[in-house]
Amino acid sequence: MVEKTVTLTDKSTGKSVELPVKDGVLGPSAVDITTLYAQTGMFTFDPGFVSTASCNSAITFIDGDEGILLYRGYPIEQLAEKASFLEVAYLLLYGDLPDQAQLDNFKGLISRHTMINETLKTFFDGFRYDAHPMAIMVGVVGSLSAFYHDSLDIHNPRHREISAHRLIAKMPTIAAACFKHNVGEPFMYPRNDLGYCGNFLHMLFATPCEDYEPDPLAEKALNLLFILHADHEQNASTSTVRLAGSSGANPFACVASGIASLWGPAHGGANEAVLAMLEEIGDVSNIDKYIAKAKDKDDAFRLMGFGHRVYKNYDPRAKIIRQVCHQVLDHLRSTSRHPMFELALRLEEIALQDEYFVERKLYPNVDFYSGIIYRALGIPTNMFTVMFAIARTAGWVSHWMEMIADPQHRISRPRQLYIGEKRRDFVPLNER
Ligand code: SDX
Repeated sequence: MVEKTVTLTDKSTGKSVELPVKDGVLGPSAVDITTLYAQTGMFTFDPGFVSTASCNSAITFIDGDEGILLYRGYPIEQLAEKASFLEVAYLLLYGDLPDQAQLDNFKGLISRHTMINETLKTFFDGFRYDAHPMAIMVGVVGSLSAFYHDSLDIHNPRHREISAHRLIAKMPTIAAACFKHNVGEPFMYPRNDLGYCGNFLHMLFATPCEDYEPDPLAEKALNLLFILHADHEQNASTSTVRLAGSSGANPFACVASGIASLWGPAHGGANEAVLAMLEEIGDVSNIDKYIAKAKDKDDAFRLMGFGHRVYKNYDPRAKIIRQVCHQVLDHLRSTSRHPMFELALRLEEIALQDEYFVERKLYPNVDFYSGIIYRALGIPTNMFTVMFAIARTAGWVSHWMEMIADPQHRISRPRQLYIGEKRRDFVPLNER
């Protein structure tokens, strides 16, 4: 088969180089520029990596124009409707949906890793009671490597697998502990008789003073939200985990770096920012003023929960969350009126009729509606990105495993276009 290539010609010298083109199974092909610098002495320039494929991956596929999202080939709509979060975590990690025996075994493995070391609990005492839970989570997850010397040989597949299981299992426990620290309540031990989402709700809302049984619909809503947030190709936080892992850093430190990146309001921090924005808008009558602010280049305000680097169509995850919003809100709220959701729907309707948003293909993304459900579940706004981190840990560890298992992988070390001073000599202080 004739190899596909592209030719790059430098018109100033007339020199040309031929570069191979790599085809994926789905999606755009890629020009292989690994030899470009050696052949031309030039770099490519792509701040924000708008046109750059950083790796091979078989985990998740996104078609931003068509609004398609596949986890290991399975459409997100089908997984959201039919799967459990642990089924999806297994799928992302191992590449196929588990059969009953595999799923039972995986659930058993995860549930036996849900507790955190008792001394780790003292770390929480070092944070002010009102510390942002993401700040606590970054610190506590990074410190897990201090406890697991028995599974830090990243070249040992068994160690990699145990670390991945530990992270998926312990994130809900750590997240619930962050919340309990904020509200001054005692941490609750995991209950292995409950499912992944039910156990998380138990650790979040149960107290030693009375029995607590999680609401099955709340469990179902969490299961859906965790599935929708589980992975998303080479997003900023996943790329951060990959970059950190490329140096051979341990998986706990890598996931802590992913949590840090996710916290940004342009990324996973957007779900918290959406609720703050909706509260600031307050009423439908103010929507036009805030749409104008979002369009004003001199105003830093952006419509949080709108826009996406890849989706230039409706984010399929936002569509699914919007659909279940009503059902969840009607169940969890005694009233049929849901002012925050109604405001969000109206804001979407008005924005999607505005030329500025239509021209730039700015649609609601996964963060636009998720917070409305989290709030209805009784989860405080400052915990929304923590929720995102719990779910995305399945994706982060899957990408980390995929990268480390690739015998071709090497340390990631981008170059730059230097625009600073040319060489100059030191000036003594008395001559400056
Ligand atoms: C997530 O990558 C992933 O996959 C992420 C994620 C995942 O699952 O991992 O999907 C999760 O992070 C979703 C995104 C959450 N972030 C937000 O909702 C924050 C608000 N959105 C924006 O900050 C922005 O849309 C980004 C960060 C999401 C995307 O930024 P890009 O791709 O760099 O786009 P851009 O900033 O270059 O915007 C292009 C144009 C600009 O206008 P012009 O300069 O062309 O005139 O669109 C404008 C922007 O000003 N624009 C917005 C806007 N988003 C983009 N204008 C107003 N409000 C917005 N929300």
